[in-house]
Amino acid sequence: MTDSASFPDGFFFGAATSSFQIEGRSPDVGQGESIWDTFCAEPGRIADGSNGHVACDHVTRWQEDVDLIAALNLSTYRFSIAWPRVIPEGRGRVNVTGLDFYDRLVDGLLAKGIRPVPTLYHWDLPQTLEDEGGWVHRDTAYAFADYTEVVVERLGDRIETWVTLNEPYVSASHGYVSGEHAPGHTSLAMGLAAAHHLLLGHGLAAERIRSLAPNADLGIVLNFTPAEPATDSPADIALTKVTNGWENEWYIDPLCRGAYPAETVEALGWAQDEVLDGDMDIISAPIDILGVNFYTRAVISGVDQGLPFDAPKTAMGWEIHEESLEHLLVWLDETYALPKIMITENGAAMPDMTRVDGRVHDPDRILYLDGHLRSVLRAIDAGVPMVGYFAWSLLDNFEWAHGYAKRFGIVEVVPETLERIPKSSALWFAELAKTGTLPPVA
Ligand code: GCO
Repeated sequence: MTDSASFPDGFFFGAATSSFQIEGRSPDVGQGESIWDTFCAEPGRIADGSNGHVACDHVTRWQEDVDLIAALNLSTYRFSIAWPRVIPEGRGRVNVTGLDFYDRLVDGLLAKGIRPVPTLYHWDLPQTLEDEGGWVHRDTAYAFADYTEVVVERLGDRIETWVTLNEPYVSASHGYVSGEHAPGHTSLAMGLAAAHHLLLGHGLAAERIRSLAPNADLGIVLNFTPAEPATDSPADIALTKVTNGWENEWYIDPLCRGAYPAETVEALGWAQDEVLDGDMDIISAPIDILGVNFYTRAVISGVDQGLPFDAPKTAMGWEIHEESLEHLLVWLDETYALPKIMITENGAAMPDMTRVDGRVHDPDRILYLDGHLRSVLRAIDAGVPMVGYFAWSLLDNFEWAHGYAKRFGIVEVVPETLERIPKSSALWFAELAKTGTLPPVA
């Protein structure tokens, strides 16, 4: 190693988005309803009462967005494919114009030398499948594998890296246990069933990808929020252990070890009735690459909630704690020996109140990115097989239950016009992508 601010040759820089958060519903491309359409229509679910009808109108402005990605020197782009756009009723009839849209996007990216990394499921389940029970229902896992096959048959000749699911923890926990995300259920039993069927869906989809695209890298994206006890009291330590089990080990353990974390299974009182013979073998078939989404850590107190100290925070109220990313990556490497790891999301919502020369001036976001990228560099130094980093997000977009009020983009999307204007952070990130060396943060 020569320079501690430089990334190794071949390390890629990209930006990430997801279908529901940016696409909008152009009738030209067609699509069925997703659980997020339904959820947005329910009063009180979304902080600003907004929805995904227009979003960033990426469906019509995709070429402009591809040009933007190229102008930022990014070699790689992570996006997701909307299941209800491809198969409007969740199973059966294929909407060819929807599939054509992703075909054009992939070709458009490749024409600019940008590697597409599609995620097959980023939370927009077809509503018709939710009507049958959603992820609580085992059949949804099989429908997901069939949908995967349709997509891989069409795009597989041009895709080097496939991602099955984005953050199954959030799908199961926020969607079925806390109810803060679609479909808005509040039942631990439903969440546990959903979690297992999401993992089964991953495993079944992986089988299809392996047979249709044997040379592609196969991965999954998991989010991690490492939990630490606020004090060394037995109550804090015990709660931290269960929190880590449910939030940080519940998915990676089955994938890499073929079993759910036993102590947490017991703590949650889960009988594992949904786990049928053979499921764990399907789920634990080897992956080539793990996508890690990291935003913050959690400090756990059995006594009161929230941070016990005055920590720096983003506009989401999330603590900024970049050291946790380095520790997480080293822990993942030591515990699970994964062949390759990429950061699939990292970034921050910031107030974005200052403008200089017509663009959002966001040194706070630059500092966040710089700090976390330095953590990645330290992990690389420690021998963790890191291959790339995607900033979340390319664009200001629909931040789920927060609506459009929380802005994660390195590129501003002007609400009234949908004009894209790179923020200072985008210019900084573009320089990094060009040189492979962290630019000054001033
Ligand atoms: C996530 C999501 C993103 C969010 C981001 C910020 O996977 O959690 O992929 O859709 O917008 O995490 O909350």
